[in-house]
Amino acid sequence: AVYQTITMDWRLCLVLLLTALTCVVWGQDDQMPPKMISTFKNEYYYPRDSILTDASINCKAWNGQIHYEWKRNGVVVPNSQFVSIDGSTGTLKFVKIANEDYGTYQCFATNDYGTSLSKLFKVKESRLGSFPAGDPEEVRCKQFEHCKIQCRDKPICLPDSQCRVQWKIGVGTKSNVYNNIRIGVDGNGDLHIMWTKANDWNGLQYRCGVWQEQRKIFVVGSDTTLRIDPARSIPNSEPISVFKKNGKAMYGGKGVLRCMFSGYPAPDVEWISPTKEVIKDTDGKYAISDFGRVLTISHAEPEYEGFYICKGIIRKVESGPERVFFNVTSAPILTGVNQMRDEIVLVGKKATFRCEAESLPNEEPPTFPIWKKNGVYLVIDGGKYIISENSKLLEVIDVQKGSDTGTYQCMSENSEGVLLKEAILKVIDPITIRERPLGSYKIVLGDVLNLAVVADTDPSLTLQYKWMFTDYQGNEKEIENSEYWKISWPNNNNLTIDVTQVTDPGVVTGVYQLKIYHNYDQKVIYVTIETDIITTENESEVFLPDGQIQLYHMFQNHLGLAFSEK
Ligand SMILES: *[C@@H]1O[C@H](CO)[C@@H](O)[C@H](O)[C@H]1NC(C)=O
Ligand SMILES: *[C@@H]1O[C@H](CO)[C@@H](O)[C@H](O)[C@H]1NC(C)=O
Ligand SMILES: *[C@@H]1O[C@H](CO)[C@@H](O)[C@H](O)[C@H]1NC(C)=O
Repeated sequence: AVYQTITMDWRLCLVLLLTALTCVVWGQDDQMPPKMISTFKNEYYYPRDSILTDASINCKAWNGQIHYEWKRNGVVVPNSQFVSIDGSTGTLKFVKIANEDYGTYQCFATNDYGTSLSKLFKVKESRLGSFPAGDPEEVRCKQFEHCKIQCRDKPICLPDSQCRVQWKIGVGTKSNVYNNIRIGVDGNGDLHIMWTKANDWNGLQYRCGVWQEQRKIFVVGSDTTLRIDPARSIPNSEPISVFKKNGKAMYGGKGVLRCMFSGYPAPDVEWISPTKEVIKDTDGKYAISDFGRVLTISHAEPEYEGFYICKGIIRKVESGPERVFFNVTSAPILTGVNQMRDEIVLVGKKATFRCEAESLPNEEPPTFPIWKKNGVYLVIDGGKYIISENSKLLEVIDVQKGSDTGTYQCMSENSEGVLLKEAILKVIDPITIRERPLGSYKIVLGDVLNLAVVADTDPSLTLQYKWMFTDYQGNEKEIENSEYWKISWPNNNNLTIDVTQVTDPGVVTGVYQLKIYHNYDQKVIYVTIETDIITTENESEVFLPDGQIQLYHMFQNHLGLAFSEK
């Protein structure tokens, strides 16, 4: 509704008032493209052909009403008896897995404004093979000396994290060989006796087996008999390296380094970091286990990479230093600033996405990024998209609400994995001014003037208003409520200038500036307020040189005098 108020003072201007319903718009209705919030492992392992009670993978995305879809090897997974898909919660559930269910999966989360993707991950078979039937073998070792019993024909066991070699001794699988400072199992599953005792034999069989934790299955291999040749004297032995293994960890993950030393008596192991400090078990970052033979490094950072040194020690006698390398690797990462940031852009403007994918130092560089929108490859010709800086920069030109709003993906790959990073583009209308006051008004004592603005913006955003005032001396200040100024609340789009209670209307004369804004756009409106208060108005007779008399109207206000011819 628009209405006008006419002040009846004949000398002054009419005051036009614009009134309208003020749209109070809150950021409730997001109308945003979806954004994946679930994180996924690189691989999931499930056994084949058995009933699974706990095999579901959740996919969740933000923003509004979302429909989920899953793809296996690029093909939509249908809902079936043994693989259920919940399109509204995003859960993929395996009840029983057949061979064709293994593969590369990806979740797609779609709403009216776009599609967000999960990373690609693999569903693999959790499995444990069996040892081939083999003839017993015999291993001969010397008393007091190092002895290694190989775990022969170890079967495939996946995933690695669920598999453990366990040695058995004697008949059946009842008695375990327990690790102690003298006896240990190395990273390949082979059994080491750091120094051999006569009774390590006893005519018993050693058998290595593999335990698969997830499936709770144990398989055992064929027998090895140990013969021990007695020694005539107790040796004076030094620590000797019998096993070592480099370690590897993904950025943020966990890795292990292994060192094993033989000797009599069984050696202790000391670990030294690449920065030459002796590693203590209590360090938090490190854990030492298996009688010193295993160093576990958690939460691997790129700077943990390097050569670690291990030494065997027997009564202060040290072995030579053994070097083991800890390699921290990663799929490509984004290290720069402003990488794949969500963008809210005005219609007609340009959106920019950066995807400066890098590998960790000393690793193979990643592929140049490829770009998708809502999971579909961008069609580069046509000028809508400009890709530059080795594909690390995507610009979307002249954005439009319907066609360019969406979820954008950049993907890059190296030997260690795939990076998939997403950013949302939301295109919004600029701020439009529907109603505004005139550019200037004159005001006299006793007037009340409303300066009201009606403006629109994208429904997802809330407008803010800020009033500034500059007087004729050039002093600028933000307008606050006072005896002559009143700003409407909660929407500050209406300023009332009230000079009924002041003696000098000059306090309100000057330039008013209203800034209408949100984070992505702003508009400014200027209104000049003058006063024309006639403190004196009379007719004066002026005697002209030719003897004539001229009548003038004389006006005076606080700014000065004015004359007008009668
Ligand atoms: C501005 O505020 C005045 C005084 O509160 C009110 O009379 C007028 O209707 C308002 N105008 C608008 C457009 O909100
Ligand atoms: C660490 O592993 C990565 C990936 O397998 C490999 O490219 C790199 O050469 C390794 N670094 C060293 C120093 O061995
Ligand atoms: C008109 O106003 C002027 C200025 O105040 C004054 O000097 C003059 O006497 C007035 N004349 C009449 C006719 O009132």
